[in-house]
Amino acid sequence: MNHISIAIDGPSGAGKSTLARLLAQELRYIYVDTGAMYRAVGLYVARAGVESRDRDRIAALLPGIEIKLRYEDGVQQIFLNGENVSRAIRTEEASRYASDVSAVPEVRAFLLGAQRALAENADVIMDGRDIGTVVLPQADVKIFLTASSEERARRRYEELREKGEDVVYDDVLRHLVERDKNDSDRAAAPLRPAGDAVILDTTGNTLEQSLDVLRAVIKEKSGHVV
Ligand code: DC
Repeated sequence: MNHISIAIDGPSGAGKSTLARLLAQELRYIYVDTGAMYRAVGLYVARAGVESRDRDRIAALLPGIEIKLRYEDGVQQIFLNGENVSRAIRTEEASRYASDVSAVPEVRAFLLGAQRALAENADVIMDGRDIGTVVLPQADVKIFLTASSEERARRRYEELREKGEDVVYDDVLRHLVERDKNDSDRAAAPLRPAGDAVILDTTGNTLEQSLDVLRAVIKEKSGHVV
């Protein structure tokens, strides 16, 4: 059976995960947050005491890593070698590690098969950086979500403060710009819109406004009414 797939790519803080999660609920699709998979690899590498850009040592660690996604009440939970790391992967340190390890081609190859298998077995909304370009080039709908760096940093800052992390806005902005550069400049599957992606800038939008725009794009491209 052919499953429908919707790819949502873009830089961090553009609203991908919130929007994708809500739309997946409305559509009754599975939401796959591929960033969480890179974060879990990053966490493993950090815990192993390996430097985040040491390609050879990172590649050597991969056989010891098992990543599983499970859904509890429709919410993705990520397990690293059996441990639920859904919270542990959300710190600033884990973000930096995730960005660095995601530039390692062996890490990308390691996760690619699992990501494709998820889309083969269910209707999915998958978010990441290279879903429309590399993971699911045949996706039914491709969206590239973006927003200004300042707005993305503000959203991320508020999210971290809500979780009780003691962060400073200027640091969050600086890290975000660094990570964008890291993700866009790498040789392996850099962050860029697919040629056939619909590009949406969410700067200044409320969540509801962005949802409406996305619903319209999904309806137009897949014929599926959300
Ligand atoms: O979406 P996120 O912030 O949770 O992603 C964490 C890191 O993983 C980010 O720096 C880029 C990387 N990533 C990637 O390279 N490819 C993906 N498909 C998803 C995330």
